[in-house]
Amino acid sequence: MQFPSYVKHARLLSWVSSMKDLCKPDFVYWCDGSEEEYNTICQSLVASGTFIPLNPEKRPNSFLARSDPSDVARVEDRTFICSRRKVEAGPTNNWMDPKQMKSILTSLFDGCMRGRTMYVIPFSMGPIGSPMSYIGVEITDSAYVVANMRIMTRMGRKVIEALGENGDFVPAMHSVGMPLAVGQKDVPWPCNKENKYIVHFPETREIWSYGSGYGGNALLGKKCFALRIASVIARDQGWLAEHMLVLGVESPDHEKTYVAAAFPSACGKTNFAMLIPPKAFEGWKVTTVGDDIAWIRPGKDGQVRAINPEAGFFGVAPGTSAKSNPNAMATIRANTIFTNTALTPDGDVWWEGMTPNPPEGLIDWQGKPWDPSSGKPAAHPNARFTAPLYQCPSVDPEWENPEGVPIKAFIFGGRRSTVYPLVYQSFNWIYGVYLAATLGSETTAASTSAVGHVRRDPFAMLPFCGYNMASYFNYWLRFGRWSCNPPRIFGVNWFRKDKEGNYLWPGFGENIRVLKWIVDRANNHGKAVESPIGWMPRYEDICWDGLEFSEEKWAELMSVERDAWMSEILSHEELFMKLYDRLPKELIFVKELMISSLWRAPEHWEFAKVEISSYDD
Ligand code: GTP
Ligand code: SPV
Ligand code: MN
Repeated sequence: MQFPSYVKHARLLSWVSSMKDLCKPDFVYWCDGSEEEYNTICQSLVASGTFIPLNPEKRPNSFLARSDPSDVARVEDRTFICSRRKVEAGPTNNWMDPKQMKSILTSLFDGCMRGRTMYVIPFSMGPIGSPMSYIGVEITDSAYVVANMRIMTRMGRKVIEALGENGDFVPAMHSVGMPLAVGQKDVPWPCNKENKYIVHFPETREIWSYGSGYGGNALLGKKCFALRIASVIARDQGWLAEHMLVLGVESPDHEKTYVAAAFPSACGKTNFAMLIPPKAFEGWKVTTVGDDIAWIRPGKDGQVRAINPEAGFFGVAPGTSAKSNPNAMATIRANTIFTNTALTPDGDVWWEGMTPNPPEGLIDWQGKPWDPSSGKPAAHPNARFTAPLYQCPSVDPEWENPEGVPIKAFIFGGRRSTVYPLVYQSFNWIYGVYLAATLGSETTAASTSAVGHVRRDPFAMLPFCGYNMASYFNYWLRFGRWSCNPPRIFGVNWFRKDKEGNYLWPGFGENIRVLKWIVDRANNHGKAVESPIGWMPRYEDICWDGLEFSEEKWAELMSVERDAWMSEILSHEELFMKLYDRLPKELIFVKELMISSLWRAPEHWEFAKVEISSYDD
């Protein structure tokens, strides 16, 4: 079998040929990344029944894919960090001895591509040639993966050229794990129902993924490379690989500030990154650099800078509407792949929350006529769209700047119906690391584990950190010590509810009010008062133009209740005990300092106009 003559990289050629020998595909195809190639791949996916072409008048050049019902989200319980020593993976990751895992994988991959084509996808995470970018090569037997990787990364021949004869790359093996016997008919969504493995070897910087074709399990540039492997490279080289969106805020007097924000999966990163301020905020503009991953490092001047290593969005569809996120709706108007959404009779897509009422005659995400009275959603809760970043109307002019954009604030926020106030600023970097390390969130459909209970998701990185989480905390503390002007750290919670279970905060575009306070603080001109957990805005410190929001409601939204916080801190303690072995001492001290401040009588908390159960001495 001939490989293209433009590939001159000996290690790459020998790796691809040994993987060909192992997987035994019928064909090998090297992706060049061209538009013709993308069209051909999409047409072949239509022919195989994986893609349903959408109505070209409503959704030009767009397709719907329906996954196997057993393959709908990341599989955290099948995700492994196979470092040589177990302690390096730490107590929050699954681990197996790398030799043992390699032997399992070698037998699984043996002949796994029979009857299929093996695609070789060279890709760059970050703009090609940027000093902050890294190259990977994914081998896959899924044409669906090829089409998605073309949108999500810079991909193809130009990456091979950047790699030259001996450039560094991360090898990433992927198979759906369903070889075809001679004459066996393929299915629209091949995968392996019994066996899935999403495996990382951090020391040798390799990825092996078997059995799933969905999202983060299969598009290996994303979570596997840009987070799990990159977090290890970053730790060794003095930078950060984070589960963060990056956005720019411009004030009416043209002060431009970039911030990065980490929210757990399906907790509002895409929405926040594409925020459109309400009318009363005329002159304020939010621009999008990225919605999921940020690679961050101190620039030459010491200022912390970030790039988005991705080139597209793999966004949650349900809840996205012209009302909640008009920029996302415009981004996906064409050239988009939809996965597990519903199909309308006129060949367009639909999902819960797109319009108040579902159109008649929907076909659900499993391809069956949808019965609105069934109580089941028409689109899968983790249905997603894959769309190019440049199609986003709010794309930031600097989004491909090879040096990145300067970051002034880090924001952390989970989905918490109780306890956490709308916004607060940590007293300093160390308190900020505590805030991020103890981040908790009610779980969502982005992972196949149970939905709706609070779990600790430190830095929104619990499923994505490629090494020991406690060492990662310590690394963050060290990062703050080297940076000459480290970003300010904030906590937000868009999801607090009242006693009746209604959201207290309108969210979405109105989040600009919180963002304005954050950038004002980060630029040293916003007002705040001290609370036990950090600096907080009072009612009068927030701009209320164009929104009716009472002081009483604000007090409820911002309340820091002693009893609730005491039990919250006990659950922080649970995480700390799990990570005891390597937990930085600073986190214990901050915890003690917070308890001490919480014991302070509430009438002395300047900010609080809230009733709190009082303690008798
Ligand atoms: P991943 O792609 O999984 O990493 O997630 P993400 O953080 O980008 O998630 P996304 O922005 O797609 O969040 C989707 C969910 O958050 C939807 O259910 C939205 O309705 C909800 N959401 C986003 N912003 C807000 C907000 O300001 N308030 C409320 N109440 N819900 C929000
Ligand atoms: C997430 O779950 O955080 C995602 C989607 O961004 S996936 O790429 O499937 O991991
Ligand atoms: Mn994500």
